[in-house]
Amino acid sequence: MEINVLSPIDGSMLGSIKKMTQEDVDKIYINARKSFKKWKELSTAKRAEIMYKAADVLEKNKEEIAILMSKEISKPLKDALIEVERTVGLIKYSAEEGMRIFGEVYEGKNYDESSKNKVAIVRREPVGVVLAISPFNYPINLAASKIVPALISGNVVVFKPASQGVLSGIELVKYFEEAGLPKDVLQIVTGKGSEIGDYLNTHKEIDFINFTGSTAIGEKIGVQAKMKPILLELGGKDAAIVLEDANLDKAANDIVSGAFSYSGQRCTAIKRVLVMESIADKLLEKIKDKVLNLKVGNPFENVVITPLIDEKSAIFVENLIIDAINKGAKALTEIKREGNLMYPVLLDNVNTEMDIAWEEPFGPVLPIIRVNSEDEALEIANKSEYGLQSSIFTNSIEKAFKFANELEVGTVHINNKTQRGPDNFPFLGIKNSGAGVQGIRHSILSMTKIKTIVLDM
Ligand code: NAP
Ligand code: G3H
Repeated sequence: MEINVLSPIDGSMLGSIKKMTQEDVDKIYINARKSFKKWKELSTAKRAEIMYKAADVLEKNKEEIAILMSKEISKPLKDALIEVERTVGLIKYSAEEGMRIFGEVYEGKNYDESSKNKVAIVRREPVGVVLAISPFNYPINLAASKIVPALISGNVVVFKPASQGVLSGIELVKYFEEAGLPKDVLQIVTGKGSEIGDYLNTHKEIDFINFTGSTAIGEKIGVQAKMKPILLELGGKDAAIVLEDANLDKAANDIVSGAFSYSGQRCTAIKRVLVMESIADKLLEKIKDKVLNLKVGNPFENVVITPLIDEKSAIFVENLIIDAINKGAKALTEIKREGNLMYPVLLDNVNTEMDIAWEEPFGPVLPIIRVNSEDEALEIANKSEYGLQSSIFTNSIEKAFKFANELEVGTVHINNKTQRGPDNFPFLGIKNSGAGVQGIRHSILSMTKIKTIVLDM
């Protein structure tokens, strides 16, 4: 059975993929297990050589893959190109970082007299077969951010890309093959997560699940994984908090690009603004100006706002807006939807009774919540079920650090928009935003296990 992949831009047919069966998945896992021994026994230097070649192949094909990605997930072409270039860097840095993973030596003599002749050599070993599941919004970068740290440290990978983004994923795997990756070290599973997912997640051959996507699916995988180690990067409701002494031009710029790039379909998008009442009008004037100037349309025409991944997602965003308006929010821009194309919406006077104050829209809408004190801002920010990132805009280093210390998130950006990169930084969500830590070095550490060898001299 085949599944057609259609473009969210115009519904045109881009290709078709195999709807894999449980028997296909069994074969993939068995082949992965078989290939593990040889791959793990290669030197890290040899594996790094292949990663560097893969980076070169990706770079050589960057225009072609960026165009495919734009068509497949409706990402503005220039952003797609940036994603590919960023991934070339990520692959090279992962190869380097793999070479910087060293073992440790522990000395028994530091513990007590009777252990003084003991030495422990503590080494890092690959976990084995890694199931890497990626979302639609970064089909190359988020896929590579799982695949490459896994491979460089000697794991083999079973890769399940999002169904929208799968064609880009297939190309990525081909680039690794062209770079000389041995057979079955990286294999792709195609088909709908809702159909093959449970079988994939609960297979006995899995040693590690590395998932990025929605909190609902992440939670399910957490339960299915039982005792197996996992890494989950999930949803977010990142707040930008703007204090009275902030540079409002800088804040407005960052907030608009942070909220609306790729039409808000980023886990780290700014998804609510908590602004002090006394400066709210001034800030909103600046934000509104910029939102009104956001170009809307086809990803190949140098725009920011493009059709969302599907119509269901656009209707979800529209309904959040309608709920907010019904409860007293004020739209400062036109509310307009054409199929899956949702125009950018700026919503003032949002309060905590409205769904949009808490839900992740994953679309081009920015709710503004006016607050009367810094404590209120902190309280609302921390009340969210999510804990991915936050921004704090202020000219006071003391206040910035007070917020940074008290915000319940994985990362706080001071006077900047929320964002994952650079890709060597730790990246994590707490609460319902995830479990475990990504970022090149941390991804390698997560997907390796300690082996202790004790010598009694
Ligand atoms: P999603 O619907 O959860 O899908 C993510 C991946 O999981 C896709 O490959 C999907 O395949 C697969 N999947 C679906 N059901 C599955 C199951 N039962 N078992 C195994 N895999 C299954 O998320 P999305 O719509 O692609 O991405 C948007 C969400 O991801 C947002 O909530 C966003 O915040 C989050 N996200 C988080 C981060 C982060 O780093 N924190 C980064 C990006 C996105 P199919 O496509 O075939 O369904
Ligand atoms: O969608 C989630 C990504 O991890 C966001 O990455 O901040 O670089 O856009 P980004």
